[in-house]
Amino acid sequence: MHGRRGFLLALTPRPVCPPRMLPVTEHLLHLLGVEKTTFRLYAMSVLLLSLLFFLFRLLMQFLRLCWSFYITCRRLSCFPQPPRRNWLLGHLGMYLPNERGLQDEKKVLDNMHHVILVWIGPVLPLLVLVHPDYIKPLVGASAAIAPKDDLFYGFLKPWLGDGLLLSKGDKWSRHRRLLTPAFHFDILKPYMKIFNQCTDIMHSKWWRLAQGSVVSLDMFEHVSLMTLDSLQKCVFSYNSNCQEKMSDYISAIIELSALVVRRQYRLHHHIDFIYCLTADGRRFRQACDTVHRFTTEVIQERRQALRQQGAEAWLKGKQGKTLDFIDVLLLARDEDGKELSDEDIRAEADTFMFEGHDTTSSGLSWVLFNLAKYPEYQEKCREEIQEVMKGRELEELEWDDLTQLPFTTMCIKESLRQFPPVTLVSRRCTEDIKLPDGRIIPKGIICLVSIYGTHHNPTVWPDSKELHRTELCHGRDACGRGVDAAALPPERGPNAQGAAEARTHPAHGERHLAQRGAAASAGLSTGAALRFPGAQAPPGEAQAPPPRS
Ligand code: HEM
Repeated sequence: MHGRRGFLLALTPRPVCPPRMLPVTEHLLHLLGVEKTTFRLYAMSVLLLSLLFFLFRLLMQFLRLCWSFYITCRRLSCFPQPPRRNWLLGHLGMYLPNERGLQDEKKVLDNMHHVILVWIGPVLPLLVLVHPDYIKPLVGASAAIAPKDDLFYGFLKPWLGDGLLLSKGDKWSRHRRLLTPAFHFDILKPYMKIFNQCTDIMHSKWWRLAQGSVVSLDMFEHVSLMTLDSLQKCVFSYNSNCQEKMSDYISAIIELSALVVRRQYRLHHHIDFIYCLTADGRRFRQACDTVHRFTTEVIQERRQALRQQGAEAWLKGKQGKTLDFIDVLLLARDEDGKELSDEDIRAEADTFMFEGHDTTSSGLSWVLFNLAKYPEYQEKCREEIQEVMKGRELEELEWDDLTQLPFTTMCIKESLRQFPPVTLVSRRCTEDIKLPDGRIIPKGIICLVSIYGTHHNPTVWPDSKELHRTELCHGRDACGRGVDAAALPPERGPNAQGAAEARTHPAHGERHLAQRGAAASAGLSTGAALRFPGAQAPPGEAQAPPPRS
């Protein structure tokens, strides 16, 4: 028996002991109720090792982020910051582009005059530049070193696409070159007729309303419609009669402008996924569709006519007529003879409709507000204009008259200084940038060029609140102020190509200098600056809208 058992034992294969892998793998297989085979043990071990490796990489990345955050904080410690709300929110919501926020910003400017550090939440630092000498290195850097930043412009993307305002790099430079003819004086001059026409419509509406029971008007609403009417005629040669009867296209633009501003104020709306599900998000999408449909139809119709007739015959047919923006874009060719695609043209046209109406209506509303507040200046402007119009049959301002209105021009520019329609522009630094005092803006930081802050910086405008008179001021030397203070045309700024274009095509540069209207730039172009007494309307008094950021 014993011998037999011994024989049987010898014949029975001994169980092969599976190699010991990670001890935890056996336990895991047991937990999963899966049989422990060699293959499964190997597979599970490899899987676990990969997971460990992945977690290790993640941890390393996190540590690297913490380290670079720590280094950035150390490098930023040389910049002063106003007191935060708390460690979690930082300065979030403290300096919104409304009346209260702008007044708070002015208080900060009493103590901090160059660069101010603010925190959006606990981990996002921003540097706010409020002095021309400190803005210069940033706007003078190339587009690669200080590109536009998506954080602040991103909300406009579904509407404006890759138009000039939002595009970057090569696309931006190519389009800027292609769009230059659109700003030539010869193109702009005939638009004076359109501006006069649209303003007349607005005036006659006011007369009508003033004779009825209406005693107060929301100027911003009227001026917005007037600027949109002008733009629609200049960009598309399209008369929608929107000042008398609202069109779908115009109301969609007005709605989009309001929705973009509202989205900035609601933090949870910043996440695209959440925004799409909200009522605002749905309205935004619908309004975008309406705007895009209109623009696309105009472009397609026009391109078809151009194809059918050929460029020469088509241009001949336009002789004596005003070339509109779509014509200019359709005819534009780059160095290789390539034209803009329909999508590119749509983006540029939508950008002009937005940039052109939002800024000018805010600027003009503030001019009206200031002229109403200072009747003595209003009277001087009226006298100046009446003098230019004397003896004319047709009550229309012409292109050449614009240089004959120095006092009115000063009023407009001073109003733009005190209430700039665009309060901020943002740039992300992809390299360290050295400031005049030796401090460094660290790579990766988002900088906000505060146009409002610069216009109200007491070291640039020490007597901003005191001057009650018109003073002649010949730039920085005579006034002791930065002439180039708040004039921040991107074409002179954040890249070399832009700067070159501004020189070769002064029309665009001048236009922006005039429109962005720091009194500093008034010093540049007219040699004169006017101050309205009292830089800011007391709270509650302002009737015109807050500037856009
Ligand atoms: C008072 C009037 C205006 C003001 C205050 C103003 C202000 C500005 C500012 C500050 C920027 C720079 C944005 C940035 O670089 O981040 C800008 C860009 C731009 N503006 Fe104006 N603007 C005015 C009128 C207009 C008008 C009437 C148009 C067109 C009809 C226009 C078209 C543009 C375009 C296309 C850009 C993008 C330029 C580029 O990046 O190359 N703007 N504007």
